[in-house]
Amino acid sequence: MSNPLQAKSAAQATLRIKPVTPFLGAEVEGIDLSCQLDAQAREQIRLALLEHEVLVFRGQNLTLDQYVVFGQIFGEVQASAKSFFDKHDSHPFVEVLENDAQRPPSINVWHSDITWQKEPPLGSCNYVRALPEVGGDTMWASMTAAYDRLSPSMQAYLADKQAVHTWEKSGFTEYLQSKGREQYHAAQAKYPPVVHPVIRTHPETGKKIVYVNETFTSHIVGLSREESEAILGYLYQLPRLPELQVRFRWEKDSIVVWDNRSTQHYAVADYFPHHRKLFRMTIGGDAPF
Ligand code: SIN
Repeated sequence: MSNPLQAKSAAQATLRIKPVTPFLGAEVEGIDLSCQLDAQAREQIRLALLEHEVLVFRGQNLTLDQYVVFGQIFGEVQASAKSFFDKHDSHPFVEVLENDAQRPPSINVWHSDITWQKEPPLGSCNYVRALPEVGGDTMWASMTAAYDRLSPSMQAYLADKQAVHTWEKSGFTEYLQSKGREQYHAAQAKYPPVVHPVIRTHPETGKKIVYVNETFTSHIVGLSREESEAILGYLYQLPRLPELQVRFRWEKDSIVVWDNRSTQHYAVADYFPHHRKLFRMTIGGDAPF
């Protein structure tokens, strides 16, 4: 009988990281995430995320506990992501993103997750559990590559600017209002608007990042409304540039992890009224600087 530990180290030895575009996204092959990974493999995956910003793992068969162990490669998995998505019935670390004929998809907007908190997530993972036959891809854009495209004059102009982020600008407002005044007012009291730099520095790579998104950023501090809208309007179209994007087609049992500090994403809502279900996990981050 073959030794399962030998099989495990063989799997790790064949780990391959295949970039999908020059700036963003890689497929990680030759690894079974249900195995206990050694420190070297974990570090290889962590560094790959810093380099490629989005990683996809295909054909993974994990329990939810194994999924959480995978998330811990990158940081602290948050028991309560403090977003407004539904929690998994039996697992406090997992949220459920589920759409079908009764629950139309609505995350077809460019955003980084939960930038309306003082310490937005370092990263997020999604594990696909139900897929439409076609459609339902997710797109990401590299906001480090976006920064690199700005002229030195624009980089200098934005360097000391701060912007306000609030969930009230987003569809969460209607969502929470639909749950009743009490829940809506409780969210307002718990999560008031926060201020983040317009250009943040990645705490691990030192790269500069355009850190405003059209879903949650309301305005730039210290500019008139017209000035703020003009500057933000320009910055909001950056993730729409195909050169900055990667688009992943989900397959059964795919897992994706992304660096939420340096990317934005967009869930393509072309599959309505078909069923799509993801298990989402959030990795804690720190205050942007
Ligand atoms: C999200 O995590 O914001 C949604 C991603 C997706 O549905 O593909």
